[in-house]
Amino acid sequence: MNAALQSLITRARESYEAWLTNGRPKVNVCIDTSSLARGADETLRIIRETVAREGIDADIGIIGSWGFCWMEPTVTVRTAGGTRTILYGNVTPDRAEEFVRRVLVDGEEVPELAIAVVEGVSNEGIVPLGEHPFMQGQVRRLMANCGIIDPENIDHYLARGGYEGFANALERTPEEIIKEVLDSGLGGRGGGGFPTGRKWDFLRTATAEPKYLVCNADEGDPGAWVNRILMESDPQLVIEGMLIAARATGAREGYIYIRYEYPLAFQRMKVAVAQAYERGLLGTNICGSGLDFDLIVFRGAGSYVCGEETGLMSSIDGYRGMPRIKPPFPAQAGLWNKPTNVNNVESYANAPLILRHGAAWWSSVSDAKDKGTKMFTLSGAIKQMGCIEIPFGYPVRRLLEQYGGGMRDGSVLKGFQPGGPLSGILPASEIDLPVALDPYRERGMFLGSGGIIFFDQHTSVVDLCTYFVGFAEDESCGRCTTCHGGTQRAVEILRRMAAGGGRDSDLDKLEELTRTLVWSNCLHGQFALTTVKLALRYFRDEFETVIREKRDPAGVLSGLIRYEIANQADPLLPEAADICPTDAIVETHEGWTIVDELCVRCGACREVAPGAVRVVERFAQPAAEPTAAAAR
Ligand SMILES: Cc1cc2nc3c(=O)[nH]c(=O)nc-3n(C[C@H](O)[C@H](O)[C@H](O)COP(=O)(O)O)c2cc1C
Repeated sequence: MNAALQSLITRARESYEAWLTNGRPKVNVCIDTSSLARGADETLRIIRETVAREGIDADIGIIGSWGFCWMEPTVTVRTAGGTRTILYGNVTPDRAEEFVRRVLVDGEEVPELAIAVVEGVSNEGIVPLGEHPFMQGQVRRLMANCGIIDPENIDHYLARGGYEGFANALERTPEEIIKEVLDSGLGGRGGGGFPTGRKWDFLRTATAEPKYLVCNADEGDPGAWVNRILMESDPQLVIEGMLIAARATGAREGYIYIRYEYPLAFQRMKVAVAQAYERGLLGTNICGSGLDFDLIVFRGAGSYVCGEETGLMSSIDGYRGMPRIKPPFPAQAGLWNKPTNVNNVESYANAPLILRHGAAWWSSVSDAKDKGTKMFTLSGAIKQMGCIEIPFGYPVRRLLEQYGGGMRDGSVLKGFQPGGPLSGILPASEIDLPVALDPYRERGMFLGSGGIIFFDQHTSVVDLCTYFVGFAEDESCGRCTTCHGGTQRAVEILRRMAAGGGRDSDLDKLEELTRTLVWSNCLHGQFALTTVKLALRYFRDEFETVIREKRDPAGVLSGLIRYEIANQADPLLPEAADICPTDAIVETHEGWTIVDELCVRCGACREVAPGAVRVVERFAQPAAEPTAAAAR
């Protein structure tokens, strides 16, 4: 192994080991975007203050995500002797002080908050992590450090096998590295699945100089946060992957383009890059190997189409993030018209694993055609919103039932959306489809970069289409009329339909638009109406009911329903009136009433007072008076 790298790794291992065995208990709080949303920074502050006030000798630190996002803030507690580590969930700020007293002062376990035992044996019979239903069947390779290491400490990464893949890459020629990546079968994780090794070879063989690498961390699909988890929990893995790509392709400068709405990932990547520079893992003559590579963390422009690789490069170049027609491909003319390779975060993050353990190990995880593991985030009307890493090939049903914990109480699966707003929706009857690329391609959609959203009977397909096409319309860069005009037209039709103005000709018009938009310049426009296309294929009856009967089977389309008071005596009515954002619920001398012109059908009143307010069909025909003939 490269001597300088070997010495970095040895020193990191010594310092990590010394920290692990210093005899102090360790409390580590997950600080990532999901946990912060549930007050993890307050939890951490309270734990630190309590420990200081009580004079407790303990190490308090931070970790990234375990993927148990629905139970944030998660906290691990390692006993002083290091014999046991327990993962706790829902350690919200109001529980933090008592929690820290129990685990650190009384030396207890807290079974009511415990998720699983990470190391050792529990006194309270808490389940070992590997036996937790959420973990069974997961193969955590990319996520091996998630929740375990401090993402802001490069030594933790180095001590746990970090940069060994890069060390192996330094001992190989660029061709050998690319062969290993090709042999692994790694396909791009940004949605397209194009072989990563082939892309690297395009850049390697490009003749113009300089060459650039770009890491696409724009992750804009609603419901996808796998890239964020990696960047916030193990940022060095991404840097190491880019270093390996630099060695393989001859690129000397790289950019990590991070979604504007990911401030913590941006900050973590900046810290990680700074630490890599400090250790001589970035910059000139890296570890004395002669390799030069500079890495710039770039904050995205806040637009969905900046995730499209040519739009992304325009944005780095300093222009508006507008995709352009390909060819030329990035390997021919990318950043500043120079050869460039663009890969997704997860694609780069797999490279250290392949170079460290070999292509055969990497691809042996399952017999599925698509190789390696894939991270997924699960959300929607399910019990457990979280992040998993599994081999390709599991049926979506398993993702829903085992990892998602099934549908929320009272919810029945109506369908699901893999792959983001451009991908399309499938009905519940397709729940046994495997997570693999081909089945989705065959249906004219794609598996995408990792988000899967499950929706229930209370979701209107017309509403869903309006939301996703509206998203595509808002995010259209505006360059081609087909896309920006076409999405606008589709949204107008859908909104009119939802307001009760649907016409018989609307479905033909929508279908015509789906056929027209495929002629847009870039994939954004080409796929913008996939949701509509698939919704018309699988949920046509629902559109017809909305158009012809002016009735919404899901009971949510604001133009087709009304709210009315169901029970004047309900004691929760004042609370319902109080929460109404438009003051539509008023008390008159005749009792409570809902002013229809003010009501926006947001459902807040029904949440606080479910028995007090009911939904009625707006265009329901009154029951016919019995005719004299029928009465006889
Ligand atoms: C509208 C649009 C948005 C995209 N957003 C992303 C994104 O956020 N992240 C990503 O990796 N790829 C995204 N892509 C795909 C990229 O253009 C590109 O194919 C990908 O970054 C290539 O990386 P890979 O080969 O590692 O998958 C998007 C594509 C389109 C059309």
